[in-house]
Amino acid sequence: MALSWTPQRTDDGSFTFFSEEFGEAFHSSRGARAEAFDKFAEATKLVERAKGDRLQLLDVCYGLGYNTAAALETVWATNPQCCVTVYGLELDPTVPEAATQPPLVDVWTPPLRSILQELAHAQQSQRPELEAHLLIGDARQTIQPLAQSGFQADAIFFDPFSPRRCPQLWTVEFFAQVAQCLAPGGILATYSRAASVRRAMQLAGLHIGSMPLPVGDGLPHEWSQGTVASLDVVDLPPLSPMEQEHLQTRAAIPYRDLTLQESPEAIAQRHQQEQAASSLESTSSWRRRWNIR
Ligand SMILES: C[S@@+](CC[C@H](N)C(=O)[O-])C[C@H]1O[C@@H](n2cnc3c(N)ncnc32)[C@H](O)[C@@H]1O
Repeated sequence: MALSWTPQRTDDGSFTFFSEEFGEAFHSSRGARAEAFDKFAEATKLVERAKGDRLQLLDVCYGLGYNTAAALETVWATNPQCCVTVYGLELDPTVPEAATQPPLVDVWTPPLRSILQELAHAQQSQRPELEAHLLIGDARQTIQPLAQSGFQADAIFFDPFSPRRCPQLWTVEFFAQVAQCLAPGGILATYSRAASVRRAMQLAGLHIGSMPLPVGDGLPHEWSQGTVASLDVVDLPPLSPMEQEHLQTRAAIPYRDLTLQESPEAIAQRHQQEQAASSLESTSSWRRRWNIR
């Protein structure tokens, strides 16, 4: 585990880290804070949900706490009386700790800064309108007692490193645990639009929808900025015919982790073997058919 993190500024002035272990940045360079609002708070319809008295949130891969912070800011801007319960799952406690140093934490309002600091240092934060816990460890393990406790989230922010870098958190079996924590009518949001991820969600019993691109941001080879999922057929933005066909290709073979303890290498190797043995359409021929470069 890394002991020190070097902040990198993203385009909206907020910060991210780069993980040497996973070979990837924690956020898009276009804006870490903006991503938390657009891909997570907005995609899970928090403004609408905050009109009630209570909300329960699950932040899978808490990291710097941006998704939790953006959610709390969104909810309390709509309804300061809304009582929120949040569980964050994070492997490496040095990440939330490093994120509480100035100037990183200064991108949040003072009340949010205190909450992020308490979560990083004491793994919990309590207010009359907040009960927040940070569960440190492998999310594949920490989610199990949470799922068994009957915890039901109205919104789940699903934000691991990419499937290639961190396949263990994109498996059918892990999604099945996560789905157990989703309330009826609740929404899970993730930045991934990968067919393997979408298929894994379906096999875990979730209905899926696409996260449309922001208006005016339609690069020709982009088709979605992520995936939303729910236990029931709530009105999720539907997959386009192109995205539906993507789920019939070899790219849609999901990652598996039968014991929820397999190594990333073993998970990736099985996935590769299943893809090589598959008779499904190749993803390159799907790309050619839809003119995707
Ligand atoms: C893409 S970053 C998440 C960014 C975060 N949502 C934020 O707003 O800053 C992925 C996070 O997953 C954590 N992680 C990696 N493997 C994990 C595991 N098995 N269980 C829980 N967290 C894990 C990493 O330490 C990292 O903080």
